[in-house]
Amino acid sequence: MKIAIIGVGNLGYSIAIGILDRKKEIELKSLFLTKRNITSLENLDKLSAVKLTTDNKRAVKYSDVIIVAVLPSQLKKVLEEIKEEINPKKHTVISVATGRKIKDIEKALGTDIPIIRAMPNTAISVGESMTCLSANKNGNKSIDKAKVIFNALGQTLCIDEKHMQAATVICASGIAFWMRLIRATTQGAVQLGFHSEEAQQLSMQTCLGAAKLLIDSQSHPEQEIDKVTTPSGCTIEGLNEMEHNGLSSSLIQGLVASYQKINEI
Ligand SMILES: NC(=O)c1ccc[n+]([C@@H]2O[C@H](COP(=O)([O-])OP(=O)(O)OC[C@H]3O[C@@H](n4cnc5c(N)ncnc54)[C@H](OP(=O)(O)O)[C@@H]3O)[C@@H](O)[C@H]2O)c1
Repeated sequence: MKIAIIGVGNLGYSIAIGILDRKKEIELKSLFLTKRNITSLENLDKLSAVKLTTDNKRAVKYSDVIIVAVLPSQLKKVLEEIKEEINPKKHTVISVATGRKIKDIEKALGTDIPIIRAMPNTAISVGESMTCLSANKNGNKSIDKAKVIFNALGQTLCIDEKHMQAATVICASGIAFWMRLIRATTQGAVQLGFHSEEAQQLSMQTCLGAAKLLIDSQSHPEQEIDKVTTPSGCTIEGLNEMEHNGLSSSLIQGLVASYQKINEI
């Protein structure tokens, strides 16, 4: 694949590193990286396949898959700039701009261009993003290209675009929600006698282990809970106390509040 990332900031950089780590899987031929000031990317300049430029049109001209990773407010201007270089038979455009719909991108580039909207999260920097993908009609024909790229950086799920706001809450904001849960269990562990670094290690690894148990066994959370709740034991005592105080209910209410807010923005 010949890939260009237009707007290599926080997210674009993580995507670039992930692509370079997995260049064989992706069959990478070239990776054009653009931003207006490329000095911050000079460490990547010596890597084979990488080409740094401030010229977005040149990056598009010599690439097939164009990942646009600028801020939502910068998207329209960048799309207008590259429009004349985009060829519907050659290019697939992938936008990661939060809240910018496929129809907004079609308005700028035309409905015949294969367009894919991707919503990764910050765990992309460690190759563990949950990335949701939606596409227009022509984009669906080349969705495998987006899957190859984002599967190399975590997992992907193709969804109807109407669920993209919900996916943003669950996966992108979700990173913050899970961080707060890890912080709370760390604080609990400190209260129970551990030093803060030990407490955070216990909390993080237990969180990772719980997720991996579900992923590897493909079981339901309640099945795994049943395995650790001895009748009249300490686990069910703690769980029920958390639920009396609204653990599940407050998480669900938080997700719904976040969803209502994202729909107002
Ligand atoms: N961070 C996340 O977790 C996350 C998750 C999902 C989606 N997103 C979306 O991803 C996009 C990027 O987010 P970010 O956090 O990576 O933002 P960011 O760090 O501000 O990156 C945007 C980059 O675009 C470059 N840029 C601006 N105008 C440009 C132009 N005309 N041509 C070329 N490059 C240009 C900027 O560099 P110069 O100033 O040097 O040009 C900047 O480095 C946003 O739309 C955001 O909504 C982010």
